Amino acid sequence: MKDVRDYIRTIVDFPHEGILFRDVTTLFADPRGFRMAIDQLLHPYAGVRFDKVVGLEARGFILGGAVAHQLSAGFVPIRKKGKLPGAVIAEEYQLEYGEAVVEIHDDAIEPGQKILLVDDLLATGGTAEAGIRLVERLGGEIIGCAFIVDLPELGGRKRLEALGMDVHALCA
Ligand code: PRP
Ligand code: ADE
Repeated sequence: MKDVRDYIRTIVDFPHEGILFRDVTTLFADPRGFRMAIDQLLHPYAGVRFDKVVGLEARGFILGGAVAHQLSAGFVPIRKKGKLPGAVIAEEYQLEYGEAVVEIHDDAIEPGQKILLVDDLLATGGTAEAGIRLVERLGGEIIGCAFIVDLPELGGRKRLEALGMDVHALCA
């Protein structure tokens, strides 16, 4: 039987030379693969109540929507700068290949709400850490951070664990 990792392909030199890009669109496109990914993302959180799932642009939206539906939780997007229409708070961060700013609506989370942060991939952890800072600035309590792929050589898991985060990833 195929495993989640078997549905993910690697594109060489995207978006820049030297990057091995883990492309999860092939996982999302497969009915069994996508269901397996959502089920496995949820697995550690059986019986846990979440108020909101926070998804990181862009592939974290696809996963986060499905996960939020399963948890009967709300969904909150964290977007790249300038995309959200309402009042936002922002955090700057470094990527494996560049710099960026992410934003969240300043009324998207209420203090004390229990949050699951979701994205497709953990590399340096810069994106997730910026997301964590945004959620925590709004008073949210992050119960878990869930990813399809962890690239351990880039240090993201250690970085998030050093912040006290519980990190769940399906494959490396
Ligand atoms: C990818 C991925 C994560 C992030 C991980 O998104 O989906 O969000 O990189 O990298 P990090 O752990 O080093 O921060 P990308 O920045 O390529 O943006 P996109 O989803 O808009 O394509
Ligand atoms: N984000 C950062 N590094 C990545 C990689 N190697 N593949 C997919 N997304 C990424």
